[in-house]
Amino acid sequence: MVGLRAEGGMKKGDSIMSYEPAGDRYESMIYRRVGRSGLKLPAVSLGLWHNFGAVDDTDNARKMIHRAFDLGITHFDLANNYGPPPGSAEETFGRFLARDFATHRDEMIISSKAGWDMWPGPYGNWGSRKYLLASLDQSLGRMGLDYVDIFYHHRPDPDTPLEETMGALDSIVRQGKALYAGISAYPPEETRRAAAELRRLGTPCLIHQPRYSLFDREPEDGLLDVLAEEGIGCIVFSPLAQGLLTDRYLQGIPEDSRAAKPHGFLDRAAVTEGRLAIIRRLGELAGNRGQSLAQMAVAWVLRHSIMTSALIGASRAAHIEDGVSALGNLDFDDGELEAIDRALG
Ligand SMILES: NC(=O)c1ccc[n+]([C@@H]2O[C@H](COP(=O)([O-])OP(=O)(O)OC[C@H]3O[C@@H](n4cnc5c(N)ncnc54)[C@H](OP(=O)(O)O)[C@@H]3O)[C@@H](O)[C@H]2O)c1
Repeated sequence: MVGLRAEGGMKKGDSIMSYEPAGDRYESMIYRRVGRSGLKLPAVSLGLWHNFGAVDDTDNARKMIHRAFDLGITHFDLANNYGPPPGSAEETFGRFLARDFATHRDEMIISSKAGWDMWPGPYGNWGSRKYLLASLDQSLGRMGLDYVDIFYHHRPDPDTPLEETMGALDSIVRQGKALYAGISAYPPEETRRAAAELRRLGTPCLIHQPRYSLFDREPEDGLLDVLAEEGIGCIVFSPLAQGLLTDRYLQGIPEDSRAAKPHGFLDRAAVTEGRLAIIRRLGELAGNRGQSLAQMAVAWVLRHSIMTSALIGASRAAHIEDGVSALGNLDFDDGELEAIDRALG
């Protein structure tokens, strides 16, 4: 067992089904280089923000991880607060690691983050050195890992000096508890400053994780240019706008959907008639490309040459298959891109 310190990996109620990874798992996935680093990530990665918590169906969660790995998805993205309750997605994932991936740790890129509210008091949130070092130790404990591959500061902290937060990331890498450092949700100027500070410390900023989709194009206003100039990779979260950029909500709000769940971060109010009209128009354009809307939405974020990976979420294995199938058609001509812009209004 390399780099894994969990034992057993089973909890009462877990299925006894065993798992053997598919032999052809590296045959069709595309792997893209992360900025100017030596690391590559799959063009589609899987995030465990929703549907992997203690409230969720563990067998389904485990099937999704298996399906992802079988399709060549080597990168799994977590954070201290994913659940609910916070921390439980890391615990669930740690059990799967121990049971199914003990001999595959070196084939996986596992990330975690800290930056949002995690424990009570002044040291369980934001960007102090105290919080980041303690939080990563807790994450490693929950996942049964000696190290994560990438550790992110989850969001900028307006009150902690950037030098302290970046110093904490540098220490974490030097301690061997993360192999690479990343930042998430940092605006362009803070990204430049963070990258400069990390460079000064000798730990390059590997990757940035911004929100980007057909419905949220903010990174086009400067961030993508900064990442290209700095040689930082880019993995975008919520490329499907949490499920809106799919056929999920075309016939109403399904009971098992994120918008319907009390702990889901997608507000019911986001499913408006106006949005649905746009989603239908986009769906037609996707159909012209021989893709589902979800596939076109994934392909669309990957059209930038600096884009490393589309970080999708899923509530069933079929969602992961759909996302990975996007890689069958990543090309857009100018006419298609203009039609998409017109459909967005
Ligand atoms: N850095 C940050 O601050 C931050 C913030 C948010 C997320 N993230 C990361 O990004 C990951 C992905 O975020 P996300 O879950 O919002 O991504 P997303 O891919 O935009 O949304 C995923 C949801 O879309 C629906 N879906 C996915 N594929 C589908 C398909 N083919 N057809 C129909 N519906 C489909 C599912 O909704 P249902 O569950 O309703 O079925 C799924 O849970 C997270 O897990 C996390 O790792 C990071």
